[in-house]
Amino acid sequence: MKILKFLLIVIVISLVTSLKSFADEAMMKKGLEIFNETAGCAACHVLKAAGSQGNIGPNLDTVSMTIESVKEMVTYGLGVMPAFGEDGILTKEEIDIVSHYVVKASQN
Ligand code: HEC
Repeated sequence: MKILKFLLIVIVISLVTSLKSFADEAMMKKGLEIFNETAGCAACHVLKAAGSQGNIGPNLDTVSMTIESVKEMVTYGLGVMPAFGEDGILTKEEIDIVSHYVVKASQN
């Protein structure tokens, strides 16, 4: 019985882990799509992982940022950087996704 219990725990843990990495992968894919297409961040920013070369805004591989700081920047904009949230260009969910994407994909 002990071994069965152990096996059951192992199965549950690996199931949860693989579901989580599946969700992470889906998020990174969606984030890339928003970065390059929906929002066009790529037009203004370098991000090696996205293959983007824009040089109007800072290189996102060299600035230090957190998910929260990216969310704030994408929501409210600054100067030339559009306010994707306030202007209704992206939904809150899309901003969450692209912010996670940028921080995870960045070389930092
Ligand atoms: C029209 C060009 C343009 C687009 C499109 C654009 N940005 Fe920016 N972005 C800028 C500029 C310019 C700045 C610098 C703002 C400043 O400091 O005055 C900036 C700043 C930033 C920063 C802060 C960098 C730092 O120095 O800490 C982040 C993060 C960022 N952008 C992410 C994004 C993301 C994600 C998108 C897409 C949702 C995006 N940007 C779309 C031009 C753009």
